[in-house]
Amino acid sequence: MLNGKVYIVTSPTLVSAVNRSSKVLAFNPFIAQLGKRITGHDETTSRIVQHNLNGENGSGYVIEVHDAIVTALAPGKNLEKMTEAMLWEASAYLDKLKDQEVDLFGWTQQMVTMCSTRAIYGPKNPFNSDPNLTTAFWFVAASCNGDYCCSDFIRRQFDRDLNLLLLDLAPQILAPKGNRARLTLAGAFQQYFENFVPGRTPCSAMAQARYTTNTHHGITSLNQGRLEVGTLLGILANTIPTLFYMLVRIYSDPILVQDIRAELETTSVSTPDPSEPTTRYLRILSMRENCSLLHSTFQELLRLHARGASARFIREDIMLDGQYLLKKGMVVQMPMAVMHSDSTIWGADATEFQPRRFLNKHNLVAYRPFGGGASLCPGRHFVTLETLALAACMVLRYDMASVDGEPLHIPTQKQESLATNVFPPEHDVRVRFKERENCKNVTWSFTMS
Ligand code: HEM
Repeated sequence: MLNGKVYIVTSPTLVSAVNRSSKVLAFNPFIAQLGKRITGHDETTSRIVQHNLNGENGSGYVIEVHDAIVTALAPGKNLEKMTEAMLWEASAYLDKLKDQEVDLFGWTQQMVTMCSTRAIYGPKNPFNSDPNLTTAFWFVAASCNGDYCCSDFIRRQFDRDLNLLLLDLAPQILAPKGNRARLTLAGAFQQYFENFVPGRTPCSAMAQARYTTNTHHGITSLNQGRLEVGTLLGILANTIPTLFYMLVRIYSDPILVQDIRAELETTSVSTPDPSEPTTRYLRILSMRENCSLLHSTFQELLRLHARGASARFIREDIMLDGQYLLKKGMVVQMPMAVMHSDSTIWGADATEFQPRRFLNKHNLVAYRPFGGGASLCPGRHFVTLETLALAACMVLRYDMASVDGEPLHIPTQKQESLATNVFPPEHDVRVRFKERENCKNVTWSFTMS
């Protein structure tokens, strides 16, 4: 399937036509094929995944798990609970940043991996009990991108192993390290699901929904563990570079830092108890609407840094928009980088970072960091809330500068991979955090309002 002819679609009109034809131009075959190559689940599971993959004959596993995840991650109580849990976990990491020097990407990687997985899988989250799992996960993820947390030797091994894992030819022989890392992760999640008690194991609605749908379709805990490796990629692999670029983009522009702080102070920070003026609260849920500059900065960084491609498999010959014949068995790709840098859509400054760009209205069909149509990313609400909240907390509390005293520079991104959209930086940036004078002795908390 991945070897045939590829049609490249970049015009907003044709992208809309692709979105409208999701039965014929289907996303699920990619979930099935790429998913198998990434997670290495067995043949029986493959058959369950393939059954009614595109709703040919009623519903099937992929359709049901998709619907369950969309419901679990939709705006509402479940999303709020998950975001709140993530932010409580993150508070401890943020408190420790006082006058700290860190490698920013490495720190973001560790913090988001631990806090997101704890929010999603609950206190029995396998990452909690085995710190080596973070390395194992980044071993698999970096197989898609290259890596940071390990030596150059391992990084080269990662790059090599990804291509081999995706080829799916005797991975235990050809890609032993990548294969071992994913087996370690899968084993830990197998145990998690073996001990899972529906309705009793404390976790997010998303983890609950996955367990219930998997079990209902007869997927063994061994293969539930394997499938979860793919889910972890969805949860973490784009989120971490997104928060990293959000921070370097903001902190590299002193005027932007100042304006975002002013916006947050007037719209989202409160001191409800006059007897405790040093306890300040950040209002999380309304931030997207109330902090338009912060939100615009987030949208703009995804416009420039989300550089993957949405792909659709052509199930039947189709005349796209009544003009272009697309042949059955081939693939349509919609590369974000091309649409996101088109000057006829975004203007002459299309390749520049303009954090205020989204304060004005824009053509949102050409804006596709989260894909579009029936497969639009269900995690977009979660990642928006967490990124805005974490960036807001950090900008309010800390100054951040490069340790070498030079202006903070924005590292270029690694080259593309099939499995992710926001590629990580080529190299890390060493920074120092300094608590702001007016924040000394302040206790920060937040409310889900
Ligand atoms: C900045 C972070 C993220 C980006 C840029 C991103 C981007 C995407 C894209 C481009 C797709 C494919 C959509 C298409 O081609 O139409 C997708 C699918 C998906 N994403 Fe995300 N994502 C992010 C974060 C998340 C998070 C945090 C979660 C879960 C908590 C998540 C869960 C999913 C799932 C489950 C799918 C598959 C949807 C389906 O089955 O139709 N994503 N994401």
